[in-house]
Amino acid sequence: MKSTASAPGKVILFGEHFVVHGTKAILCSIDKRVTVSSKIINDKKITVKSNLGQISVSILEPISKIKSSYKPFIFIAKKMIDEFNHGEGISIEIDSSIPSGVGLGSSSACCVAAAGSISGLFTKLPKKQIVDLSIEAEKTIFEKASGADTTISTFGGIIEYGMGEFHPIKSKMNFSLVIANSTIIHSTSKVVSKVNEFKKKNQSEFSELCKQETKLIQKAHDSIKNNDIVSLGKCMVENQKYLQKIGVSNEKLQTMITIAEKSSFGAKITGAGGGGCIIALVNDSNIDETLENLKRQNYECFTTKIGVEGLNTF
Ligand code: MEV
Repeated sequence: MKSTASAPGKVILFGEHFVVHGTKAILCSIDKRVTVSSKIINDKKITVKSNLGQISVSILEPISKIKSSYKPFIFIAKKMIDEFNHGEGISIEIDSSIPSGVGLGSSSACCVAAAGSISGLFTKLPKKQIVDLSIEAEKTIFEKASGADTTISTFGGIIEYGMGEFHPIKSKMNFSLVIANSTIIHSTSKVVSKVNEFKKKNQSEFSELCKQETKLIQKAHDSIKNNDIVSLGKCMVENQKYLQKIGVSNEKLQTMITIAEKSSFGAKITGAGGGGCIIALVNDSNIDETLENLKRQNYECFTTKIGVEGLNTF
């Protein structure tokens, strides 16, 4: 038997980093997906394969001994094997069209698709349980994960997320995003640790920024509901200032943002920063110009459908 699941990547429209410290965030799914296929094998091993390489471990190997970046998938497989008292192994194959390490939610989407695919060999878990399992798995390599990325990847659409809770945001706004990749690969957990250092050294400033972020997210939410793209763009510009203050931007990202802001409604980092991608808010009136301006400076950029379907299993 084969069980397959697919999950989308994401962009964070507002609230990255601050969401780790208890504020809300607004996220949407994007039209780049990862597909994971699993099957039971007649061998007491868990094997994981992707275009990045392959690993094979005994089903009895303690999870604490596993050092591979595939640890979250082995964690999910071992958990299912234990829960369903299953004596055989599992082979897992990952196929992703989400660029990794650039803030588009590739590792969370892999965890979600793996949770859907592997659990599907034994049972049909409700999406809420898939999110919980994916968060547990993601935390084996990134302890401080807020859960925002796995939640949007599971449910899709546009959501407001905070402290494990989320609400879908219904939008009639006709907007698109231009995504530009700095091609600087980052480690989310390292950038999150850097922000923690900033927080320790600048406690009152950080707490003030969290308050401002909370107000900004309310304003952004209202702008989406009221179809006010100009106001939403201004919120992005403001959010970028807070991200700069906590030290997750850099010269290359700022240059890209400056170019994108010439024609778009607003632009900012998306995801952990330190590298990765920026997003620029556009509609039909300025999408081409924004893409052209970035391409002319040789930045890798594209547009994507947003708010696409979350996890699906087949
Ligand atoms: C990473 O996509 C978003 C961060 O806020 C981390 C997290 O929410 O887990 C930087």
